[in-house]
Amino acid sequence: MSLPGPSTTVTAAMRDRRSVRAFTDQPVDRALLRTILETAQRAPSGGNVQPWQVSVLTGDSLSAMIAAVGARLAMGAAGSQPEYQIYPDPTPDPWMARRYGVAYAMYESLGIAREDKMGRAMAMANNFKAFGAPVLLFVHCQRFMGPPQWADMGIWLQSVMLLCREAGLDTCPQEAWANFGQTVRDQLGLGDDQILYTGLAIGHADWSAPVNNFPVDRAPLDEVVSWHGF
Ligand SMILES: Cc1cc2nc3c(=O)[nH]c(=O)nc-3n(C[C@H](O)[C@H](O)[C@H](O)COP(=O)(O)O)c2cc1C
Repeated sequence: MSLPGPSTTVTAAMRDRRSVRAFTDQPVDRALLRTILETAQRAPSGGNVQPWQVSVLTGDSLSAMIAAVGARLAMGAAGSQPEYQIYPDPTPDPWMARRYGVAYAMYESLGIAREDKMGRAMAMANNFKAFGAPVLLFVHCQRFMGPPQWADMGIWLQSVMLLCREAGLDTCPQEAWANFGQTVRDQLGLGDDQILYTGLAIGHADWSAPVNNFPVDRAPLDEVVSWHGF
């Protein structure tokens, strides 16, 4: 297995980036994160609105977030406070098949059988420990922002993930935190005028963990691209 070191081109960063769900406890330097976030400010947005607002947590602040959300998680369905509906209901194929595809590949890498509901729930709960990452960042914006501004937040998010790769850091975007939007906002001191988009775990990947090594396919290009006038 070749371990991805820092990516030195945009192409390499695109190819090497993957969602990392096991981190070492090596801390992440605040100055390095600041440089990454400064550079990510160059991300484009419609009308240069730059809708993203960002909260970055480590240490005690991260522990307090994990404890607060963990308490809600322990309440079962009653503890959930969805900020928005993450997936369309129903989600038809081929989109649903893609969701299942990555989920089963991940559970298989963790040695969790498909019918093991408890095992899957415990793996899911790992989201709320930021997969052991030393840094967790939250992206939020004003609640009145619409789909175009949400797309802008996505562009910003990928910019950060690619810049992290260049810095030898890895990431996992985590919209799972949006299931506990109120608690996250309370912990961050954000009012109801803000809406939480996603978390982003950041740290040094533990490449020895099988969960960081299973392949995640993409649809063949011709399924998503049609050419006109060529
Ligand atoms: C906005 C966003 C939110 C995501 N939320 C989660 C999450 O809550 N938990 C998780 O394990 N993965 C999450 N993912 C990771 C996706 O499952 C992953 O990007 C997808 O399966 C493709 O795999 P790759 O990132 O390893 O290439 C999220 C990805 C994005 C872009």
